[in-house]
Amino acid sequence: MKTLLYIKASPRDDRSHSHATAKAFLSAYQQKNPQDKIITIDLFKESLPEFDNFAAESKYAIMHGREKTAEQVKKWSQIEKVIEKFKSADKYLISTPMWNFGIPYKLKQYIDIIVQPSYTFTVTDSGYKGLAGGKPICVIHARGGNYDDNSPMDFQKKYIDFILGFIGFTDIKTVVCQPTLVDEETVKKAQQAAINNAKSMAAAF
Ligand SMILES: Cc1cc2nc3c(=O)[nH]c(=O)nc-3n(C[C@H](O)[C@H](O)[C@H](O)COP(=O)(O)O)c2cc1C
Repeated sequence: MKTLLYIKASPRDDRSHSHATAKAFLSAYQQKNPQDKIITIDLFKESLPEFDNFAAESKYAIMHGREKTAEQVKKWSQIEKVIEKFKSADKYLISTPMWNFGIPYKLKQYIDIIVQPSYTFTVTDSGYKGLAGGKPICVIHARGGNYDDNSPMDFQKKYIDFILGFIGFTDIKTVVCQPTLVDEETVKKAQQAAINNAKSMAAAF
């Protein structure tokens, strides 16, 4: 039995295009892999630890090989819990809206928690090395407008691809649902195309 971790980054439920696409993915995946377990992290409902002074100082303590203070150890155990949950999955699905050309702050907070030296990346003589990769991941992006891969305004997919690559993911699959803020007919077509894409991706995931 494998575990698929679904990370939902839109606060919207039934009206979310990224989540509707993810639901189609998960249902196709579960049909093909009934024995697998799907765990959902709904980032706007989850209470994630703040990446505050104690967390940041703990990170520097790890990087500089210093002992952590008692407060830092306490804070770090909350951070570790989130990282462990992330790392224990076998496969990943992320669904995210584009917000102000990038990603919602809750997803950024989650990334700031899980991207840590000695847990998800390390530094070697030849540079950074990701420690969390080697597993399949699919990211669903929804945007109000239309952006191609070379758009200078896209800090959503470009950033997600970069940061996932940084922690070691090499097999990053993508589904884009766009444009979602135009006339009803066009949105309907875009949503259906994304769902079809997600379903065929899930069948081979
Ligand atoms: C706070 C906020 C910021 C947004 N910024 C952008 C943006 O920069 N570019 C864009 O094309 N759409 C933007 N949108 C529109 C969303 O990307 C679009 O509605 C998308 O479908 C949201 O995903 P969801 O339907 O899964 O919630 C923004 C929406 C919100 C609420």
